[in-house]
Amino acid sequence: MKNIIVGQSGGPTAVINSSLLGVYKTAKDRGADKVYGMVHGIKGLLDRNIVDLSTCFKTNLDTDLLKRTPSSFLGSCRYKLPDIEGNEDTYEKIFKILNELDICAFFYIGGNDSMDTITKLSDYGIQIKSHIRFIGVPKTIDNDLAITDHTPGYGSAAKYIAATTKEIIRDGRVYDYPVVSVIEVMGRNAGWLTAAAALSEGEDCEGVDAIYLPEIVFDVDKFLENVGNLLKKDRSIVIAVSEGVKVADGRYVCELADHVDYVDAFGHKQLAGTARYLASKIDEKYGIKTRAIELSSLQRCASHIMSRVDMTEAFNAGGAAVKAAFEGLTGHVITLKRVSDDPYMCITEPADVHFVANVEKKVPLEWITDDGANVKPELVHYIMPLIQAEIAPLWINGLPRHIRLMTKSTIK
Ligand code: F6P
Repeated sequence: MKNIIVGQSGGPTAVINSSLLGVYKTAKDRGADKVYGMVHGIKGLLDRNIVDLSTCFKTNLDTDLLKRTPSSFLGSCRYKLPDIEGNEDTYEKIFKILNELDICAFFYIGGNDSMDTITKLSDYGIQIKSHIRFIGVPKTIDNDLAITDHTPGYGSAAKYIAATTKEIIRDGRVYDYPVVSVIEVMGRNAGWLTAAAALSEGEDCEGVDAIYLPEIVFDVDKFLENVGNLLKKDRSIVIAVSEGVKVADGRYVCELADHVDYVDAFGHKQLAGTARYLASKIDEKYGIKTRAIELSSLQRCASHIMSRVDMTEAFNAGGAAVKAAFEGLTGHVITLKRVSDDPYMCITEPADVHFVANVEKKVPLEWITDDGANVKPELVHYIMPLIQAEIAPLWINGLPRHIRLMTKSTIK
């Protein structure tokens, strides 16, 4: 039996390390010799920055900590491989390194950009008749991957958003004067995660007053008018807004205030400042107290409130990827298929990665209210099973214990 290699790519999640563990354990159980990790994804591989994972996970405590540790244990990258044509030297270099390490299967845990890497490598592999198999493991808090019912990482981030929104709503009601809180949620061009704020509503909580998703063109004047109407009915208003909302001319709302300079290798602008901009507009128009709450990285690495369903599915996706590769597949990504809603049941299924790479799956318009300022119960129903159950951190000295990569890359 030969060796395998695994990497993590793109933005981190609370459960991306469970997928890493799923790959590691399943490969070992199925007789893989070495399991290598790329440090900082494909970029690390090109720099020969590689670790032998068995030197990192020596005891059961290490693997128990791994699944409770947020973010990407191996480090990540946002690195776009060039097109194959005209850049064969890059691909020759990658395959040379993989062959030197005697790799039979390559796994990449990531979102739609990362699946571009699997697509290109598997296409090139087929072109040169390489025996190496390339399989993608889905991951993203954005939940915007095509074909799959949902993505590992989303359930935990949604649980964090819903729970945090409930806390913000309680806090917002303490005073007897008006306060408008605007919560900015990640998700780039898809509103799945912002929609999770709707889960805050229940018998113990009023719920959010409005939700704005990037699927609907944002109108600043209409937004302010809605805030005015809401203020006539209540003193505390809480609004969830996606970082990716855009006005009619295509600009992100955050660009109306701040000049966004940073753009990553996939051409994505860094989005931040939407809540701040909108809160300042509310203040300007109504002269009342506002709070701009940018959840930023808190929402994607909150392992202390991880969803057990999400963690289990992340692990299973990693395991299913190894199974797929060992059974002969290449150029595929593992998807999650919901086979039942009540009771909730989900299975894994490989799909052609070409249909997933670089595609963004948006929230269906029929799940958004006609005024574009809230979501319908169908969307709540879709998210609810994904946030279920908990897994406690290992608390040491009053804090969750994590594991971090200590081994220096030894394989050159
Ligand atoms: O990968 C998804 C994501 O978390 C998006 O929701 C967000 O827009 C983006 O990553 C932020 O990326 P970065 O960490 O590169 O700023």
